[in-house]
Amino acid sequence: DSDLYRLYNGLMLPKIAHTDESLNYLQNFQVKDDDIFAVTYPKSGTTWIQEILPPLLNGGDLTSVQTIPNWERVPWLEENQAPLVLDKFPSPRAIVSHMPCHLMPSSFLNSKAKVIYVARNPKDVLVSSFHFHKMATFLEDPGTLEEFTDKFLSGKVLFGKWTDHVKSWRNPELGDRILYITYEEMLQDLREIVKRILNFLGRELSADALDRVVNNGTFKNMKTNNMSNYSLVPDVVLDKKKSNFLRKGIAGDWKNHFSPELDAKFTAVIQEEMKGSNIRFPWD
Ligand code: PPS
Repeated sequence: DSDLYRLYNGLMLPKIAHTDESLNYLQNFQVKDDDIFAVTYPKSGTTWIQEILPPLLNGGDLTSVQTIPNWERVPWLEENQAPLVLDKFPSPRAIVSHMPCHLMPSSFLNSKAKVIYVARNPKDVLVSSFHFHKMATFLEDPGTLEEFTDKFLSGKVLFGKWTDHVKSWRNPELGDRILYITYEEMLQDLREIVKRILNFLGRELSADALDRVVNNGTFKNMKTNNMSNYSLVPDVVLDKKKSNFLRKGIAGDWKNHFSPELDAKFTAVIQEEMKGSNIRFPWD
């Protein structure tokens, strides 16, 4: 443990967001069969999913995304906010989590709760996280991109190694309870992905409602939605002079940051760790 981070089952977590109580709550959480989890490694599309799910689940009604901050609207299972809001939520509850599969509550695997797993190109995850560490006063300064990359590749970052996270969620016990999507597919055709999620959840939306969900979920709209752009968080916590939470919202920004040497090193480590996993991503 340090001033800023705590270790939880070997996982580095930010102290500001997780207390003993919140982690106890996570462990003992009683999953309901109609709970809907959206799971991400940090910086892979969490806020985006928090924007899409509420109106998708309630016929395209945008009231909640316009009036409730994203972290209360679709709370993190493992964060301080969860005990305060989740118990009062009407079902079906939409919940986000950054947890690897094996650290989910013990009631999770035996439930029928569905999971949407969003993955993003780890090179862009790294770049997004690097900028986030500059603005987040509750995280260590990332140092140079090269230094931060070494931490990222060795798992000395929040929620551990990216490769461990994506592999943990390929747990065959989950069967058809899990839907795999990527940030890049959401960027390419959000409507198609929303339809895929609807189908997975056994739900339907009218054409109008689908339009509303998709239009509300664009980067441009989210940037101006104070309930989603983290402007409610003061600068002493997230310093908007250093970066933006909704920063660029593109695929491939790593190309503006990586040197050929860094790219070669990063690619080699990730490829080695993904070897034999049969997991294919659109960026491979
Ligand atoms: S966190 O801290 O884990 O909750 O962060 P997370 O929300 O997972 O990731 C933040 C990145 O997602 C981008 N984002 C979007 N991109 C495109 N379109 C939309 N609608 C959108 N919403 C969020 C956000 O800009 C961060 O990526 P970067 O690359 O830093 O811009």
